Amino acid sequence: MDDPFTDITQTLFEDKNILSEEYRPDIILERDSEIEAYTNALKDVLFGRNPANIFIYGKTGVGKTAVTEYMMDALRSEVQNRAEADPLHVHSINCNDHTVYRTVRALINSIRDDTDDTFPETGLSTAYALDTLYEEMDDREGSFLFILDEIDHLSNPDSLLYELPRARANGNLSTARVGVIGISNNYTFRSTLSPKVKDTLMEKEISFSPYDASELKSILTQRAEKAFIEDAYDNSAIALCAAIAAKDTGSARQAIDLLREGGDVAEERDATTITDEHIQLAEERVQRGRVKNKVRDQTIHGQLVLETVARLELDEKTPAKSKTIRTQYENVATNWGHDPLTTLKSIQNHLADLTMLGFLDRTERNEGRAGGVHFKYELVMDADAVLETRRDLESA
Ligand SMILES: Nc1ncnc2c1ncn2[C@@H]1O[C@H](COP(=O)(O)OP(=O)(O)OP(=O)(O)O)[C@@H](O)[C@H]1O
Ligand SMILES: [Mg+2]
Repeated sequence: MDDPFTDITQTLFEDKNILSEEYRPDIILERDSEIEAYTNALKDVLFGRNPANIFIYGKTGVGKTAVTEYMMDALRSEVQNRAEADPLHVHSINCNDHTVYRTVRALINSIRDDTDDTFPETGLSTAYALDTLYEEMDDREGSFLFILDEIDHLSNPDSLLYELPRARANGNLSTARVGVIGISNNYTFRSTLSPKVKDTLMEKEISFSPYDASELKSILTQRAEKAFIEDAYDNSAIALCAAIAAKDTGSARQAIDLLREGGDVAEERDATTITDEHIQLAEERVQRGRVKNKVRDQTIHGQLVLETVARLELDEKTPAKSKTIRTQYENVATNWGHDPLTTLKSIQNHLADLTMLGFLDRTERNEGRAGGVHFKYELVMDADAVLETRRDLESA
């Protein structure tokens, strides 16, 4: 065989990085009213006043991080142009599985970035950590904006979210000012906060709605122009990506990922243009990936029951009763070398779990006086994808 790379001569991508997660767009499209609300919420910083606390809410991929980064860049450069504005310090922390102590520690370390001195991981109290944070802030003076992303993952956030915004009023800060920007895609998070914290953090609340197909199309078009070489895509392929993502989640991330995947599919097929068909194939590939992740998360017997229903589905024997599924399940389990569960009840429990998780659909059948009422199950997802995943998992 020849060197595997010698045949690869051309690529449809001019700059593939533009379709990657790390890329920071310099233009934000379709978020004018959110940007206006954000501007109003932040403008006190320009006049040396206390920054407002802001809560940003919206589902995944709708531009919360992109818009926040854009706003911070814009604010930083405006502050530099204005003599009356205090110095601005922006510190961004992801709260994923953080305790309050670890979050405060991360903020201290982010502020101390210019020194080698890091705050200890353990051994000190949260109150001490907060005092240290206030000292560091006062030493540097000016306005601090703390961006707490995935703030809903913070365990027991009440203490921090109560303390921090009141630090100046309570005399803990004398020269520095602070504003908290909390970001979350979990709306129920609000109701887990105590009322006084809720009022403070949600002083200014900006909600980001899912994008519709036309908004996604304009975001995608702008990216595609930079990411691909000339004439590398049909406009209808862009519109299809936008339509698929709008119908599913309204996430720009999903739309961009699909377009990139479509570009990969087109290249694999040596095409010179990305067409609707490439996007459709990419979408199937993405769906399979999702099925795989979901199946992998199930227990082994949950997987075996699911595989059984998939096999029955391909044999056109669904909707099937739990008794039918059980008989077939015993074969499936034994064939893979697993000891089958022995009671019908345990199979029914797995069927109920899989139904609740959206893998299966359950219908109630009433077979007259003699038969009574029972349930029948069928697969909601693609049977081939389930079997393919199961084979992969067993051979891994
Ligand atoms: N209005 C927009 N204009 C240009 N690009 C956008 C816009 N909105 C989102 N994007 C892009 O879509 C992707 C996802 O956006 P972003 O990371 O901001 O989502 P998010 O709301 O922070 O999601 P998550 O809750 O998962 O963190 C990024 O690549 C971002 O650059
Ligand atoms: Mg984000």
